[in-house]
Amino acid sequence: MAELEVLADAAVLIGDDGLVEAVGTRREIAERARGAATLEVDGVLFPGFVDCHTHAVFGMARLADHERRARGISYKEIAAAGGGILSSVRDVRERDAAELTDLTARRLARLLANGTTTVEVKSGYGLALEAELKQLEVIAALQGGAPSLVPTFLGAHEVPPEYRAHPDEYVELVVREMLPAVEAQGIARYCDVFCEPGVFTVEQSRRVLEAATRHGMALKLHADELDPSGGAELAASLGAVTADHLAAVSDDGVRALAGSGTIAVLLPGTMMFLGRTRHAPGRRLIDAGAAVALATDFNPGSSPGMSLPFMGTLAVSQAGLIPAEAVVAMTVNGAAGVGESHTRGQIAPGFRADLALATVRDWRELVYWYGTNLVSRMWVGGLPCDGGEVPVNFIV
Ligand code: NIG
Ligand code: FE
Repeated sequence: MAELEVLADAAVLIGDDGLVEAVGTRREIAERARGAATLEVDGVLFPGFVDCHTHAVFGMARLADHERRARGISYKEIAAAGGGILSSVRDVRERDAAELTDLTARRLARLLANGTTTVEVKSGYGLALEAELKQLEVIAALQGGAPSLVPTFLGAHEVPPEYRAHPDEYVELVVREMLPAVEAQGIARYCDVFCEPGVFTVEQSRRVLEAATRHGMALKLHADELDPSGGAELAASLGAVTADHLAAVSDDGVRALAGSGTIAVLLPGTMMFLGRTRHAPGRRLIDAGAAVALATDFNPGSSPGMSLPFMGTLAVSQAGLIPAEAVVAMTVNGAAGVGESHTRGQIAPGFRADLALATVRDWRELVYWYGTNLVSRMWVGGLPCDGGEVPVNFIV
């Protein structure tokens, strides 16, 4: 992770199929590609960033929660009082798919404008069959555009109000009704669970994830976000593609991830936004041998953050990653976090020509300047796209 290949005076040759054909010096590529249309750009060209963990389908912003936390009420206290995830659930249940699609499209355009060309998007604000499918349909409707999307079913994001007294019955509903319906519609590649004391236990999470495997979905897990419960160990033992959050991971959890193929996804924007000082042990995870990726966790409650480079800045200053590791974590390893390590996350022959141009001289500037967007141009599949300055929040 600490080694980046950086080319000076570089050129990228892109084929008609939207894939990178060759990378080299400008002279090498000019000889090889006589007659090709050329475009000169000035700055550092990165692989388009891959955001492997978002909850981008939602309605309103949660401005009151943000203010409550400033007044000293914690994320879990807000949730226990019916705010938090459940307030987004009430909101998403009431909106129709067209409105959610419009809002999500605006927000994805802002992620794209910050250099993100592939985004994993979860359901999880429906918590009932129809409303979960509605969110997955929104994701499906936005497929094929830029950025490109990877859909994840997160029916076990929280226990809905109707099942508060009987959480196991909700787990059974997810397993017996939702997973078969999601599989039948073929609209989710991954299944995720919020495994956390007070939300879903390790055993409940295991029940959902094992069923998801039988329904053909690959696995992700919100693991050890706020308090430790063995989520990282569960993710590793089930062969999950990612274990995400990990701010409260135990030493055993670090060892389990290091000894597995499961990628540790750090979401430092979440800890920062929740005002928590303990970040996931990025340095220890890498030193132990784990693969680390970075994501925004973009969502209205715990991380309304849209910039992966800013997550890189946080990872360097709060989680002990060096700049090269932060860039790998948002490109190569982010792509692995959505099962696309052979198609995305690198500027190399055969990879999709997803590119982000940052107007900097030195690549390390990407994770240095913060609070501003350094990305000025993006390409997805070789085609230029304009993220544009669109409003993110027409409704509050
Ligand atoms: O990843 N942890 C659970 N889910 C989200 C928060 C979602 C919300 O608060 O709406 C997260 O932090
Ligand atoms: Fe999340």
